[in-house]
Amino acid sequence: MAAILLLSLTLILITTKVIAQNTSTNFIYNGFAGVSNLTMEAAAAVTTSGVLQLTNTSTNVIGRAFFPSSIPSLLPGNKTISFSTTFVFQILKSTTSSGGGHGLAFTFSPTKITPSPGCCPYLGLFGRENNGNSSNHIFAVEFDTARGFRFFTSESHVGININNIVSVSSASPSYYDNTTNSDVNLDFLQGDPLHAWIEYDGVLKVLNVTLASLNVAKPSKPLISYATNLSDVFKENMYVGFSASTGTQPNSHYISGWSFRVNGEAQALDLSSLPFPPQPSTRGSSSSKLSNAATIGITFSITIIVVATVIAVILYLRLRARLAETIEDWELYYPHRFPYKELYKATKGFKEGELLGKGGFGHVYKVVLRGTGEEVAVKRISNSSQQGVREFIAEISSLGRLRHRHLVHLQGWCKRNEDLLLVYEFMPNRSLDLYLFESHKNNMTLTWDQRYKILKGIALGLLYLHEEWEQVVVHRDIKASNVLLDSEMNGRFGDFGLARLYEHGDHPHTTHVVGTVGYMAPEISRTGKATASSDVFSFGALLLEVACGRRPIEMSYPPREMILLDWVKECYLKGKTHEVVDGKLGDEFNQEEMEMVVKLGIVCCSSRPETRPSMRQVTKYLNGDEVLSDGWVVQLCESDSSMDLGSHHGSSNPSSTDPSTNFSTYPHGVVSSGSFLGGR
Ligand SMILES: *[C@@H]1O[C@H](CO)[C@@H](O)[C@H](O)[C@H]1NC(C)=O
Ligand SMILES: *[C@@H]1O[C@H](CO)[C@@H](O)[C@H](O)[C@H]1NC(C)=O
Ligand SMILES: *[C@@H]1O[C@H](CO)[C@@H](O)[C@H](O)[C@H]1NC(C)=O
Ligand SMILES: *[C@@H]1O[C@H](CO)[C@@H](O)[C@H](O)[C@H]1NC(C)=O
Ligand SMILES: *[C@@H]1O[C@H](CO)[C@@H](O)[C@H](O)[C@H]1NC(C)=O
Ligand SMILES: *[C@@H]1O[C@H](CO)[C@@H](O)[C@H](O)[C@H]1NC(C)=O
Ligand SMILES: *[C@@H]1O[C@H](CO)[C@@H](O)[C@H](O)[C@H]1NC(C)=O
Ligand SMILES: *[C@@H]1O[C@H](CO)[C@@H](O)[C@H](O)[C@H]1NC(C)=O
Repeated sequence: MAAILLLSLTLILITTKVIAQNTSTNFIYNGFAGVSNLTMEAAAAVTTSGVLQLTNTSTNVIGRAFFPSSIPSLLPGNKTISFSTTFVFQILKSTTSSGGGHGLAFTFSPTKITPSPGCCPYLGLFGRENNGNSSNHIFAVEFDTARGFRFFTSESHVGININNIVSVSSASPSYYDNTTNSDVNLDFLQGDPLHAWIEYDGVLKVLNVTLASLNVAKPSKPLISYATNLSDVFKENMYVGFSASTGTQPNSHYISGWSFRVNGEAQALDLSSLPFPPQPSTRGSSSSKLSNAATIGITFSITIIVVATVIAVILYLRLRARLAETIEDWELYYPHRFPYKELYKATKGFKEGELLGKGGFGHVYKVVLRGTGEEVAVKRISNSSQQGVREFIAEISSLGRLRHRHLVHLQGWCKRNEDLLLVYEFMPNRSLDLYLFESHKNNMTLTWDQRYKILKGIALGLLYLHEEWEQVVVHRDIKASNVLLDSEMNGRFGDFGLARLYEHGDHPHTTHVVGTVGYMAPEISRTGKATASSDVFSFGALLLEVACGRRPIEMSYPPREMILLDWVKECYLKGKTHEVVDGKLGDEFNQEEMEMVVKLGIVCCSSRPETRPSMRQVTKYLNGDEVLSDGWVVQLCESDSSMDLGSHHGSSNPSSTDPSTNFSTYPHGVVSSGSFLGGR
């Protein structure tokens, strides 16, 4: 007995020891404010906002920051550790630089000491004298921007360096987007914060480098996957950190957050809490503009060229002043910010870009981004209330992280004075309303199968917003014109959360109700509060529209048919539901699905929120996993209409929260399933 006890105690001790050894190096810095235990050398420093700045704006400087203690990297028997690291970095061009000013590198180094590089600070790793010497024992992943730097052909690039500034493997920065199955190009000199992951498997000897912009999750494929045995590079103890240098172009290199772990996946950074460096001010004092002009003047000495240059400079400065960002401090803390200049140029000053539509929130343009050639839709919201904008952008930044194949992804935003610009994925097949209500104008029609696929898709999108993301997101403005269609005719919700902009009003006590008449749940007019359940109501209205091919309210129709929901309920109770089916479909539709969609529309549009199904239930009905009972539908048709007459109130309905138990209290045979289509 005692022996067993002793044995298990020893086992526990051994296990604890191994775990302790294995987990000993695991750290995370979500920002560097107040951090004193990093070894910072040369130009490296932590800014007041808590960003690790590797280089300042001087030319030819080095900056290094290393984790203070060494990491056992080469284990007995020439085995290397596995490691994983992730960090967010940003390279900002100084106002006087025109191109790449070297770059930064994540590094394993046998020493923390800054090398004296002689002529050339190769990213602060070594100099020309010892470049390429295997006694360096340097492993680095470089994020380099050096244009025309002797060894490189392209401008921005990612490379794996072993003892040498010439990379053993390199790639242009981009990331793989699994939703479009394509690569999205990145450019370090755009100045956007970027997210990097570096992982090394010490057993399989594979190194992966992955890059992405901040608003996307870690891509499923790495940018570089390179087989390399680091046993010869690593010494027993190595230091880990960052190194950077500037050349003749003094760009600043920043790290916002860093996480590292030996034997295991590095902890994810909390992106929402990371600090970001101040953007170089383009408002600039007139003196910096003058010196800018002066530099240009010197380079061109011939008088005629000087004159031409001066004119060009004046024009340039005027354009620059027009495009100058008027950035307030807080704006810098939210990711996904686009430079106004880029959007302005891409739309030729919002004059040329193709106008896709005008909505309640503003005009939408199709824009081709110059950097990447990517097509995007830019929504321009003018005269937005200043009070709400900050909260709204905080929210938008977090919504930017929503990823679902039935949502239109927000790529970024940009604010300038009164203009708020939102950049979305471009949806080539426009919006659902054009097919449902305007097919006579544009000849665009949808078959029933297409309609049903769209409904199933957007139900999943809404389920994700309601239940599957980290917080409940209420869409608030579900309608056919907010259902956009991608290249494969999948339905995707746009504009989610946007209605909030108008609810953060000037007066906290008067809530502006947002929504569209005919889609808005009745309780909203009483409570003023949109909920997941009121979204379900709007979704119900949308189901009926898709089945009936008409809007919820059509003033030009005979009174009996004016309100779609009432008309559908009446026809349903009379067993004449075939009358409501969209005439454009003819006989070409699946009767069971049509019946289900109409019934589900009625159920979702119940006037009492507590009797509406959740989106999870709705998707089950649409997938045919559950059958919608006719009794429930009949009950809702009757109880809602009796409320309309004012003769009863909700309380007079026996236990109204569980409709299925009341099934038997309603007359049967009014509608039996199968009689739905009147024998068609
Ligand atoms: C760390 O843990 C892994 C398995 O989780 C094990 O293979 C390895 O030997 C451990 N390393 C040390 C140094 O204890
Ligand atoms: C370094 O400092 C940070 C905060 O100052 C602290 O959270 C962290 O545990 C420290 N790490 C080490 C290894 O001392
Ligand atoms: C940048 O850092 C270097 C080295 O620490 C220092 O000599 C130089 O004065 C700094 N330049 C600026 C503009 O702060
Ligand atoms: C480890 O590698 C070194 C250098 O490559 C070699 O000299 C040594 O014999 C190796 N040791 C083992 C145990 O394989
Ligand atoms: C590499 O560096 C070592 C030590 O610094 C030196 O002795 C050796 O000559 C160097 N080799 C070359 C090829 O420069
Ligand atoms: C590296 O990427 C490849 C390809 O995606 C993957 O199979 C492998 O597991 C990755 N290895 C590490 C260490 O992340
Ligand atoms: C894309 O990758 C993410 C994680 O990187 C994953 O959660 C998602 O399911 C993937 N989507 C598709 C369509 O494969
Ligand atoms: C990696 O290199 C070391 C030292 O040269 C060697 O002992 C080891 O066998 C190599 N590992 C693999 C998997 O090739």
